[in-house]
Amino acid sequence: MEIGERDPVTGQVTTGHEWNGIKELYTPVPRIVFFFLAVTILFAVCYWVLMPAWPLGRTYTKGLLGVDQKTSVDRLVKDATLERSAWTQKIDQMDFAAIQADPEMMKIVGETGHTLFGDNCAACHGTKATGGPGFPNLTAGVWLWGGAPETIFETLRIGINSTHPETRTSQMLAFGREGVLDSNQLADVVTYVRSLGGTTDGRGADPQSIAAGQEVFKQNCVACHGDDAKGKLDLGTPDLTDSNWIYGGDLQSVTTTVFDGRQGIMPTWEQRLTATQRKILALYVLSLREEGQ
Ligand code: HEC
Ligand code: HEC
Repeated sequence: MEIGERDPVTGQVTTGHEWNGIKELYTPVPRIVFFFLAVTILFAVCYWVLMPAWPLGRTYTKGLLGVDQKTSVDRLVKDATLERSAWTQKIDQMDFAAIQADPEMMKIVGETGHTLFGDNCAACHGTKATGGPGFPNLTAGVWLWGGAPETIFETLRIGINSTHPETRTSQMLAFGREGVLDSNQLADVVTYVRSLGGTTDGRGADPQSIAAGQEVFKQNCVACHGDDAKGKLDLGTPDLTDSNWIYGGDLQSVTTTVFDGRQGIMPTWEQRLTATQRKILALYVLSLREEGQ
């Protein structure tokens, strides 16, 4: 048996090995495979030399090209900040009225404010800022603490019944649960309050109940809600004569409010948003109201 012998069936050269009459054909790995293997290894070696590649404990081989994704991200962020700082600086320097009078600036407020509001406020106040049960509508132009941009800016800073040491505080007392009013007085004052906003269904039709409720109101409620029940901005009490309700104006809701009391919590944003962001938000919230009118 010698190398070079041809297999009579396939006509291929055999290796010359024979096992029990079976001969092995000579079929080497094609050259092209070795070629690609060599190219791949060459590529890998070049890549290791040029690009960041091998970890070395705390550091790594940096590569000759100096490519580094962290520095390129840093550069992009720096560019973006620089671009923005032009108008953030303007927002910081201009006062509220000046920004409101400047359509260019209000466009930025609208765009940035919309994003900020969606990220931070919409969960409670709704995506359109129209509120919901327990969360005031910010587009109605009716304010617990006042609707000046400076006031809203301050509300955002310290919050209401929040964890901030300077927080605004307010509380609607639990007149029923605490036993301040008996059930008749409670029903009467609820009827009276609902009649103020023009809701006179059910018991509201009864003028005697309204009169009795007015008396209860005078004795228990005017200190906070004011003689005219229109609320006091310095105490953050709502106007009870309009149709705008935080907790609902139906019989059940108003009864629950007066029976159990209420204490809405608006978080402080001093730590979580910059002064510029809070300024933008104050202006944004006010701009919603103007659009709605
Ligand atoms: C966790 C829920 C919650 C989040 C989040 C929240 N708020 Fe409030 N916010 C409230 C509640 C509740 C009140 C009303 C407090 C009360 O009843 O006294 C309020 C009140 C306000 C007021 C005062 C309204 C007035 O009549 O004086 C403004 C302004 C306001 N929120 C704006 C914002 C903005 C802007 C954001 C986003 C940065 C935001 N809120 C995020 C719950 C929230
Ligand atoms: C200590 C001050 C205080 C007194 C006294 C008080 N209130 Fe209030 N009341 C509030 C505050 C503050 C709120 C707003 C609570 C909130 O937003 O979380 C409120 C809210 C309400 C609301 C809910 C309004 C809405 O928009 O949903 C009703 C109704 C109400 N009060 C009725 C009364 C009646 C009736 C009395 C008298 C029996 C009374 N209040 C006495 C402070 C007071």
